[in-house]
Amino acid sequence: MSLLRLDEVTRSVRLPDDETLEILKGVTLDVEIGDHVSIVGRSGSGKSTLLNLLGLLDAPTSGSIWFDDRLTSELSGNARDRARARGADIGFIFQQFNLLGGRTALENVMTPMLYASGRQFWRRRQFATEMLERVGLGGRLNSMPEKLSGGEQQRVAIARALIRRPRLILADEPTGALDIETGASIMAILDDVAEVSGAALITITHDVNVAALARRHYRLDRGVLAPIDVSRVLSAAPEVGL
Ligand SMILES: Nc1ncnc2c1ncn2[C@@H]1O[C@H](COP(=O)(O)OP(=O)(O)O)[C@@H](O)[C@H]1O
Ligand SMILES: [Mg+2]
Repeated sequence: MSLLRLDEVTRSVRLPDDETLEILKGVTLDVEIGDHVSIVGRSGSGKSTLLNLLGLLDAPTSGSIWFDDRLTSELSGNARDRARARGADIGFIFQQFNLLGGRTALENVMTPMLYASGRQFWRRRQFATEMLERVGLGGRLNSMPEKLSGGEQQRVAIARALIRRPRLILADEPTGALDIETGASIMAILDDVAEVSGAALITITHDVNVAALARRHYRLDRGVLAPIDVSRVLSAAPEVGL
């Protein structure tokens, strides 16, 4: 079943000199439940712009986006619906882990549950503990982010992104601030927790080695999205990537 579908999506911005800059040019993408898709692109290719659309944080200039077979432009009249869809259905992971300083790992992971209702709210401590155990941090529940390594901080961020069991996880350069080995282990954990919870995962990166860990691979080049054979790219120029 299709979870997220983009059909001929464009995104333009009006520049100060009244010119129009078309950042995304007719992007078409279909993401199924449980899918793991990577999108690799150089700086300036439109990755962040696309991520904002995939995360329903922004609306396209033209074209359509469906989430759960519902046309998202029809949700746009109701900001509360969109916010709700984002909060519960979509989890974000960023290059900068964005953890709250002075709060323990457990408190950080519980944060998204503070706005949940019913069982999710009342059992937030238990759910957060389970998520931290799943990313291998069961022994660091009460550690402050400042006391954790970069890889550990990103694992806390993964636990936080997954605690509400989103059906879509968007990872924007999730290994960008980590060394190669730590980055590889973070991708393995991310892939694993996404699989266990049945979520679709979209990884956006400039690093083709990170992109290769997904199951389906795309390249974004000057706003044009196209499928790539990543094994070919890797064997051609493994150290350069693109
Ligand atoms: N609001 C905006 N106004 C003008 N130019 C923008 C705006 N947002 C993005 N751009 C330009 O569009 C291009 C793609 O941006 P972005 O999506 O951030 O790329 P990436 O994340 O791949 O580096 C860049 O050249 C950027 O400068
Ligand atoms: Mg960017």
